[in-house]
Amino acid sequence: MSSVNQLIDYHQKRYNALPQFLVKAPGRINIIGEHTDYNNGYVLPTAIDRYIYFVISRREDNKFNIYAADLDKDHTFSLDHKPNVNGYAWYLHITGVIDEFRKKNHTPLTGLEITYGGDIPGGSGLSSSAAIEAGFATAINTIFNFALTKLDLAYVAQMTEHHHIGVQCGIMDMYASIFSEKDKVLLLDCNSLTHQFVPLDLKDCIFVLVNSGVKHNLADSAYNERRQQCEFGVAYFQTIDQSITSLRDVTFQMIESAKDFLDPIVWKRCKYVIEENQRVLDTVAYLSENNLEKVGALLYASHKGLSEDYEVSCKELDDLIDIVKELPYVLGARMMGGGFGGCTINLLPISKLNSFKKTVSEKYKFLYNFNPDIIEVNNAQGITIDSLIDLDTNKYTNQV
Ligand code: GLA
Repeated sequence: MSSVNQLIDYHQKRYNALPQFLVKAPGRINIIGEHTDYNNGYVLPTAIDRYIYFVISRREDNKFNIYAADLDKDHTFSLDHKPNVNGYAWYLHITGVIDEFRKKNHTPLTGLEITYGGDIPGGSGLSSSAAIEAGFATAINTIFNFALTKLDLAYVAQMTEHHHIGVQCGIMDMYASIFSEKDKVLLLDCNSLTHQFVPLDLKDCIFVLVNSGVKHNLADSAYNERRQQCEFGVAYFQTIDQSITSLRDVTFQMIESAKDFLDPIVWKRCKYVIEENQRVLDTVAYLSENNLEKVGALLYASHKGLSEDYEVSCKELDDLIDIVKELPYVLGARMMGGGFGGCTINLLPISKLNSFKKTVSEKYKFLYNFNPDIIEVNNAQGITIDSLIDLDTNKYTNQV
């Protein structure tokens, strides 16, 4: 975990360079709509006040120096050397972005000194990777005047995950990090890739995250497998109606009629996606009526679907949901993000927060001998990039 000021300090000492740009790229929560994004469905995320920060200075040659402060690791590459990596490496989230820009015929003219870090806990399902990729893509776009749109930048970040990290993720995480606004959640239609802002007025309630502390190794392969199972489902529905291009076009009636014809696993994966899309739309309607009880019930229903039909939960996450179900003041909860670990998202009255923290910690500790992090987050503005240099004096402003 590093603060902006620490990062600026590291940057100046390490590179002996004036910090010129500061990028602030938020993580995200998702209220509801899980595993629907890559099925052209609906999601309801928003950026949160946890960030990856990049401090950047230009170089005159074509060398890039990257320092990942939270990992205390560095990496150097130059534009004329292709990285030769087998498997995963932390810096692929950065070098991959440059590669994706080059595929669009946008090659940076010079190298950069880069320092980054922040306060999004890694591996907790708050999309620190998407924040790194989308944040760095925004930096490259601004510093080299490439004039890509925000949607292009979201694609660059998503393709970095696909081509360099090996996760066939949807676009939700990077889209939320880029497009979010304060006091609103994004209703993103992943079919048209357009969004509406839904006001977030929770009255006396808050969303609180509980981090199970589980980081599942199989998460990436299981994620890609879920995606494939949905594609099998789509292929079947196309034999019935050629105009179907994704599960978004499949109705409740069609899924019911397919029960005896589809592989049972594929069938329940598809059923879950179709139901979850409806839950997103219902949540938006209940939010606009301020009916938080109903929103909470949909969160519990979403968890049940994720656990039993989509099978992306795990024992620890299910136990966290069972624990809060016994607390009458909790309106609803579910696992959040890709699954197999990470956080649950819980809706409860602010006045009960202390009691919630105490009970959940005690019960989870009793089961797993582990104190779960209970994280309060606020919704936040999407990625920003600021110049740290005063244009009149060409001096570092030191105003962060
Ligand atoms: C991960 C992916 C997203 C989305 C969620 C599940 O966070 O990166 O694209 O599919 O899982 O909703």
